[in-house]
Amino acid sequence: MWNKIIRISSDPSIRSLVFLLAAVMFIFALKRLSSPRTARLGNLLGAAGMLLAVLITLASSQIVTYTWIIVSLIIGSIIGVSLALAVKMTAMPQMVGLLNGFGGLASALVAIWEFWRQPLGRADHAPAALAAIASLIGWVTFTGSIVAFAKLQDLITSRPIQFRLQKPANVLAIVLAVAMVVLLGLAPQNQWILILLIILAGWLGVSLVIPIGGADMPVVISLLNSYSGLAAASAGFLLGNAGLIIAGALVGASGIILTRLMCKAMNRSLLNVLFGGLGAHVAAGESQARTVRRYTIEDAMMAMQDAQEVVVVPGYGLAAAQAQYAVREMADHLEAKGVKVRYAIHPVAGRMPGHMNVLMAEADVPYDHLLDFEEGSREIEHADVVLIVGANDVVNPAAITDPQSPLYGMPVFDVRRAQTVIISKRSLAPGFAGIDNPLFYDDKTMMIFGDAKETFTSLVSALKGE
Ligand code: TAP
Repeated sequence: MWNKIIRISSDPSIRSLVFLLAAVMFIFALKRLSSPRTARLGNLLGAAGMLLAVLITLASSQIVTYTWIIVSLIIGSIIGVSLALAVKMTAMPQMVGLLNGFGGLASALVAIWEFWRQPLGRADHAPAALAAIASLIGWVTFTGSIVAFAKLQDLITSRPIQFRLQKPANVLAIVLAVAMVVLLGLAPQNQWILILLIILAGWLGVSLVIPIGGADMPVVISLLNSYSGLAAASAGFLLGNAGLIIAGALVGASGIILTRLMCKAMNRSLLNVLFGGLGAHVAAGESQARTVRRYTIEDAMMAMQDAQEVVVVPGYGLAAAQAQYAVREMADHLEAKGVKVRYAIHPVAGRMPGHMNVLMAEADVPYDHLLDFEEGSREIEHADVVLIVGANDVVNPAAITDPQSPLYGMPVFDVRRAQTVIISKRSLAPGFAGIDNPLFYDDKTMMIFGDAKETFTSLVSALKGE
């Protein structure tokens, strides 16, 4: 039976057809992933397309034995499933970063093995250049992703680490790496060039990511995701595997699109993100000099009950506290009293794209209550109360008013336009970018200190009159 399947699937036109079907499934999956409403189906469709591509690749007459493939599949599945079950929602960006890195490493190893497996002839210019490209991008992705992971996991400081002549050294390393790709293409039998390229690429990944501050890590992770796709596509060309080429190209393109969207959300150019070193000059410690108005849960309850419209701005702290259910319950009580409640979602709130949408969907907040940046900004203008739950950088007015601030120019919700601002967080600690927030000291601001989940659980009890 298996032999028959292998015979049929070894037919090049059948293989091409199955890869085409998988590619169509990937494209529909991406389309569905663009809305929370259809994302689950999109995910399933993408996974099914990938399964199809893997199965048709495995059903090949060129495979001598399945033993090691099955062993690797079992080990990989056990690690993947345990990681996915164990990882917290707030640690998802590091997880994605790590997976990107492994994707890049896999492509690089395949390319290196292809290069080493059978000595290339003098005329094998294209395979040698492809092996060099896949190794270069794959190793940069791998070591860069490990650094991004270490920064987000707090294994190393998330502040930019810079040294003298870093930028010229990086530019020189990039030029050298490109020259080595060309050289290997010209001299396909010279294995030393590939060895040197791998070492250089490994160093380049580290030295490109290490000077970037934590606040810019989402963009870096998305860019590395795109790199991992490009590495896979190059490996696909090398192996002549249409599935790998298509999947790699889609990952590469969607990663670049996401990177662009995120840069736009932060009002930064990609070059500025990569070479700007945001967060290097953090203004900390100013907070001691100014006064802060501390309010009680009852004060907050009264302000919201008297409001006609409340706009909630969730941030990373809501995710860390898992306060989404309590916030939703509070909103239900307010809406029962005739208060309109909406949620303004900043594109980089939290620690990963769509983080807040996922949390709000978990708590069954209706999708049409979630407003994107433009809609949220408009709604805030006529809100009576803006309720900030564990958000900080995305509402920092320094991004609008202080040209010296590293956040200057990043689009943030200008919550000072609302009548009253309530902030729920534990302390005056800064957010991810490590920058003090003048909003805490604004006359309009009511600070409610404490863990967001505890605060909103108490608020719900107060609203219930318990
Ligand atoms: P942040 O600026 O990081 O601020 C989060 C705030 O939550 C902190 O100031 C913290 O203050 C508070 N907090 C933490 N635990 C809490 C708890 N249990 N209860 C209540 N509050 C708690 O968050 P943001 O406004 O969402 O901004 C996101 C930042 O992360 C941006 O700088 C963005 O660039 C960056 N980033 C984004 C992503 C993506 S793609 N979304 C990925 C990585 C990084 P206390 O300690 O005083 O409570």
